[in-house]
Amino acid sequence: MTVDQLDGVGPQTKKKLEAFGIKNIMDICVRGAKEVQEITGVDKGKANSWVFNSQKILEEAGSIRKTDMSVTELMKYHTNLDRISTKCKEVDELFGGGLTPESVYEVYGEFGCGKTQFCLTLTAEAIARGDTVIWIDCEDTFRPKRLAEILLARELATEENVLDKLELIKYFYTPNSEQLMGTVDSLSDLMMELKPRLVILDGSIGQFREEYLGRGTLAERQNQLARLMTHIKNISFYFRCTVIFTNQVQSDPAVMFGDPIKPIGGNIVAHASTYRVYFKKSGKKRIARMVDSPEHEQKDASYTLTARGITDAEE
Ligand code: GTP
Ligand code: MG
Repeated sequence: MTVDQLDGVGPQTKKKLEAFGIKNIMDICVRGAKEVQEITGVDKGKANSWVFNSQKILEEAGSIRKTDMSVTELMKYHTNLDRISTKCKEVDELFGGGLTPESVYEVYGEFGCGKTQFCLTLTAEAIARGDTVIWIDCEDTFRPKRLAEILLARELATEENVLDKLELIKYFYTPNSEQLMGTVDSLSDLMMELKPRLVILDGSIGQFREEYLGRGTLAERQNQLARLMTHIKNISFYFRCTVIFTNQVQSDPAVMFGDPIKPIGGNIVAHASTYRVYFKKSGKKRIARMVDSPEHEQKDASYTLTARGITDAEE
């Protein structure tokens, strides 16, 4: 899997790539041609061919999905994808039964609407069945105690084994966007070792909004966001896992009718996710809305937040 099996990668280039954490062909794919080009200084064609050939090697080794399946093969493939569910009936229906690997899910909504609780609920379900989870916390709001509570309330763990279950999570706190980018950049060794079912970035986009203030910094912010989005999209595909990132909202003053609330980050963020879900409080009820999906209709699901995490709303 080392990079020097690629045509044109000699000891010098290998060294340059390694200095930026690119050690194997999986990294070449995850980081993408643009970044590989910037790091090594080779021309665009060369960088593109490295990514293309790396992908072919991985495909032939069976470590990633075949990219040229027949349509019936693809249909079967999609049907057989493993799903993790919240066990909240309506919310699961919204996701067609649960969240699939090789997909990026964006969950956005106002503070306190349940984004972190949603991630905790899915984490509880994943670790209960022995899967591993990577949790990148950009807001310092991850509470292992709360996760333990959800596991116990769902009877997914006992007082005796709950701490062992929590050990299946690899946790990172990233107090600023540099830490976040650095953590995501250096994830691949860990991904190969843990093969996580779920990668969570809680609060990631908001971190950029806080740090890059004012119009003058917009281009730089969008550049960094684009890099992050490319990475997480590639991580979901090449490591065959589900990536969930949470996002804040802003009110769009141009919207005269209907809901003026929209997620931050603009098109770069919007296009990176496979599914976008909007969580909101609606009177006493809480609603999850599938806003964008390649396969689901736009519909609403109600839920409530209890000791068990995301739970069925009582009628
Ligand atoms: P921000 O990160 O601030 O944008 O919010 P968020 O969308 O991540 O909200 P979060 O998922 O943290 O949900 C917070 C809400 O969850 C609180 O308002 C509580 O109503 C609810 N909540 C948190 N812990 C518990 C709990 O132990 N029991 C119950 N019943 N509700 C809880
Ligand atoms: Mg939160």
